[in-house]
Amino acid sequence: MKINVEKVVIPVAGWGTRSLPATKNLPKEMLPVYRKPAVQYVVEEAMLAGLTDVVFVTSRSKKVLLDHFDRNLSLELVLKRAGKEELLEQVKAVAEMVNIISVRQKEQLGLGHAVLCAREVVKKEPFAVLVGDDLVFSQEPAIKQLIEVAKTEQMPVIGVMEVPLEKVSNYGIIGGEEIAPGLFRVKKLHEKPAPEHAPSRLAVVGRYVLTPDIFDYLEQIEPDLRGEYQLTDALKFLARENRLLALKISGIRFDIGDWVDYLTANIYFGLQDQKLSRELKQSLKNLLEDQGGSC
Ligand code: UTP
Repeated sequence: MKINVEKVVIPVAGWGTRSLPATKNLPKEMLPVYRKPAVQYVVEEAMLAGLTDVVFVTSRSKKVLLDHFDRNLSLELVLKRAGKEELLEQVKAVAEMVNIISVRQKEQLGLGHAVLCAREVVKKEPFAVLVGDDLVFSQEPAIKQLIEVAKTEQMPVIGVMEVPLEKVSNYGIIGGEEIAPGLFRVKKLHEKPAPEHAPSRLAVVGRYVLTPDIFDYLEQIEPDLRGEYQLTDALKFLARENRLLALKISGIRFDIGDWVDYLTANIYFGLQDQKLSRELKQSLKNLLEDQGGSC
């Protein structure tokens, strides 16, 4: 099958339990990172890679997320009357970024199950998956890097990033053969291994270019001990058949479900805003001094 990617699946149906109580009623993917909800950065990454058909896999409580990518005519009128043209343009632009399709995941049975819910929409085409709470920033959008490789190599590709050894047990870790700088043919995929059993420090991050045969594998996998169907378990079938590549993405990544990453992401963007950065730096400095200078 010739790999040409047009659709992107963004699963956003999870409960976000790590982020409670903030996520009691607010989807985790809608938590603000500086001036935008986290998921907007993910959609922008897709858009920059030329992917304009976004399939959100949602759940009952995610209406507010879909509304964010829709017009809000009353608000637009208020901004227009107030002469707030710049804000008006920003608010309108979000609604025009991409075409939104939404499918429901009726039970939260894991990332693999969420991707399977998109089967009827994706049909028999290659597609991208961007995990809705994983922000990745690199000079060239991470998913674009993967699409380029998938097109050249005509194979599914997953994004990996190096993590410290003590953190490998939080991730799916790959083992493989480096066939070009930063590009690996995946031989093994271990879900959350103990550091001494990890085949490498290369962790699977939430960026994938997949072919539709993954849906057949997703239907065959068994749930894990928590009753969740993991995407990595379906990817193992491809690895066994030597049909999976992993590309090391350079850049910076924030897992919005992790409080340290979440708070760091806000500071990262605040520091990049010239209007804020001086004051923010000073405020952070004062705060650290108040804490006894320990960091
Ligand atoms: P996570 O495991 O990070 O999200 O899934 P979660 O389950 O919402 O969060 P915690 O662990 O309870 O805090 C990564 C992404 O996959 C989506 C989530 O919404 C998140 O964006 N997801 C997860 C689904 O769409 N469906 C699921 O069943 C599980």
